[in-house]
Amino acid sequence: MAGKDAPALQTAVVPHGCAVPGETFPDWSRDFGRVAPLELEIGPGRGGFALDHAAVHREIDLVCIETRRADCELIRSRAQERGLANLIVLQGDAKLLLPGLFPPASLSALHVQFPDPWWKKRHSKRRMVDVELAARMRLLLRAGGGVDFRTDVRAYAAAAVDTWEDAGFLNAAGPGRLSPDPPEVLSTRERRYARTGQPVYRARFVNPGPPPGELSLDRAGRTGREWTDVRRK
Ligand SMILES: C[S@@+](CC[C@H](N)C(=O)[O-])C[C@H]1O[C@@H](n2cnc3c(N)ncnc32)[C@H](O)[C@@H]1O
Repeated sequence: MAGKDAPALQTAVVPHGCAVPGETFPDWSRDFGRVAPLELEIGPGRGGFALDHAAVHREIDLVCIETRRADCELIRSRAQERGLANLIVLQGDAKLLLPGLFPPASLSALHVQFPDPWWKKRHSKRRMVDVELAARMRLLLRAGGGVDFRTDVRAYAAAAVDTWEDAGFLNAAGPGRLSPDPPEVLSTRERRYARTGQPVYRARFVNPGPPPGELSLDRAGRTGREWTDVRRK
């Protein structure tokens, strides 16, 4: 049997993060080999946070989405060295992959740390935290699920606080405020800033529950990516 007559999937081994025919979403409990709270990190870079978070919290399963192949391979090999079976890294653009990866209310937490600022105006569409991501995460996070956002760009922090709150998330530090609490685990970049003393802006949010109605991406024309700031040298 060949070509279009071949069964769609002939092997019992399904690559991580893939839905098999008949599934709408990947079966993460199949991929991790257990049922556990599922967390997502977007843009882990070299994985300083992902690896230590997965090691400290063996009770959760962590999916990372990273565009850079070399970083994906680095994290995978370090996870293997450290025996971390609760960490899966997918290579690709999180904005494109997200809608097909997780069913509603399936995630316990989202981590977005030091997303690229994309300083040039013509690149600002690539900014990760925007109205669309926030609306989508209202849908994908379970009630009580958290968002852990960190940046070194003051204007990104302020815009993101507005964006998560406008989408209906509860700000753990109170409306409009940044988090005063130091994080349990630092990201790769954050470790550098801890040495140099460069400021870091952190915010944490909680999903109060399913959003009312359909996924709405319309916020009166606001994208959440309009911010401008002075680029640090
Ligand atoms: C400034 S680095 C921060 C890395 C890490 N979070 C840290 O704090 O050290 C931003 C990371 O996000 C990744 N990235 C950028 N756009 C992305 C996208 N659309 N989907 C997934 N990863 C993305 C980049 O490749 C890069 O590794």
